[in-house]
Amino acid sequence: MKVAFSAFPKAFTGNVAVLVGADKQLLPSAQAIDRELGGAIKRAIDASRFTGAKGQSLTLLGQADIARLTLLGIGKSRELDARAAEALGGLVAGEANAAGQKAVTVVVDPLKGNALDPGQVAARIALGAQLRNYRFDKYKTKEKPEQKPTLERFTLVVAAPGEARRVHEKLEPAIDAVFFTRDLVSEPANVLFPVEFARRARELAKLGVKVEILGEAQMKKLGMNVLLAVGQGSVRDSQLLVMSWMKGPKTQKPVALIGKGVCFDTGGISIKPAGGMEDMKWDMGGAGAVTGAMRLIAARKARVNVVGVCALVENMPDGNAQRPGDVVKSLSGQTVEVINTDAEGRLILCDAMWYTQDRFKPQAMVELSTLTGAIIVALGHERAGLFSNDTALSNKLRAAGTAVGEKLWRMPLGPKYDKLIDSDIADMKNVGGGRDGGSITAAQFLQRFVQEGVAWAHIDIAGVAWSTKGNETTPKGATAFGVRLLDEWVAENFER
Ligand code: BES
Ligand code: MN
Ligand code: ZN
Repeated sequence: MKVAFSAFPKAFTGNVAVLVGADKQLLPSAQAIDRELGGAIKRAIDASRFTGAKGQSLTLLGQADIARLTLLGIGKSRELDARAAEALGGLVAGEANAAGQKAVTVVVDPLKGNALDPGQVAARIALGAQLRNYRFDKYKTKEKPEQKPTLERFTLVVAAPGEARRVHEKLEPAIDAVFFTRDLVSEPANVLFPVEFARRARELAKLGVKVEILGEAQMKKLGMNVLLAVGQGSVRDSQLLVMSWMKGPKTQKPVALIGKGVCFDTGGISIKPAGGMEDMKWDMGGAGAVTGAMRLIAARKARVNVVGVCALVENMPDGNAQRPGDVVKSLSGQTVEVINTDAEGRLILCDAMWYTQDRFKPQAMVELSTLTGAIIVALGHERAGLFSNDTALSNKLRAAGTAVGEKLWRMPLGPKYDKLIDSDIADMKNVGGGRDGGSITAAQFLQRFVQEGVAWAHIDIAGVAWSTKGNETTPKGATAFGVRLLDEWVAENFER
């Protein structure tokens, strides 16, 4: 889909969308079109439930030279923020494809009392449309043209198109990064296993990211036994992907991003039931988001020091797989009793986190993982669970999430929860407390691997990494949740 920004034309033709404020408030362009059409817009509104409320839309067909005229409700015009504008763009793109349209023009009039100027609004509408217009169809060999999305041209009409274009150019790297992550997360596990994930991440070297990949022999030498034990039942080699982007001030301690990359999670010997197990191909959504965020940070040439570390494994049952009851020594020196081989995410992450802290001495460490089914029970699919030892860090992450529409909800930690994972024969066990508070005990496990003085956050994205319904800016499937959140958090708090 091509995006273009252009100045107001003499007359509108084709498929046109205009914004309408709350209480049927027509903006200047809509008023002009309405006059041209002899009051058709007002009559259509009066004959419908459309009031201009946020999220509403109403389409008029065959009005003079306008094939389809879509009224887009924005609510109070001063309340249309960047995120709402993205949603609006996504809505238009979704409806245009559903209606088989090839081209659509959105008219962006100035909005009274709005903090954004029309150029920014137009750029955000375009971004939303582009984010919505993703499709993972590489394995479909028999699709007829009429089954494919039709939208080819998305035009924004705005008084200062040059300004809108400049804003949009700054936003564009996010689209590429989000699509990169959605591709990774969508791939089936026979295609995307740890070595293949690492190979695709090597592409980031072109952007100036230093990419290192540690194999099993190197991890063994270092003592990353807990991570390796998860992968030992798989014929696929485990990998540790280390990406660094050190383009900030020499004296700035880096920020660390950590991702869970279980390319497939069968549960191991504590095997999962068959129903829905195919979902576990996206148990690498955390690693996917971290890799996408590194790509975006590098594409923006951000003046900041960031490292991204992903633990990549496959969790399989096998004659060589780890058993429930096994005790394994982690890189930190602490020992772990593996009660349930399906609680594997925390196992690979504990060694990846320790490695990262030992080597990079980060000032802050944010880890993303599809860690627990319990977080879906708690929060559903609207918000990811946030756990942290630092309230200032939590607040900054929540603000970044709200800004990009990837919302977080802070969850508790505490010594009483921590005690639940004490083991009788080792320093800790990998599950405790039964199913109760399952996301919290998982986070407590991770916290035992946070070093003194490191601001740490764990974001459980099990409920948001994949969407079965989709939303305005995300078609159903992989969401790439976390890519924009991490980038926004880095941009707002660490760039010089
Ligand atoms: N990858 C799963 C968590 C998950 C579940 C992600 C559903 C996305 C959707 C994780 O490895 C897992 O199996 N967790 C167990 C932990 C339990 C054994 C303590 C779970 O949530 O059931
Ligand atoms: Mn599991
Ligand atoms: Zn898992």
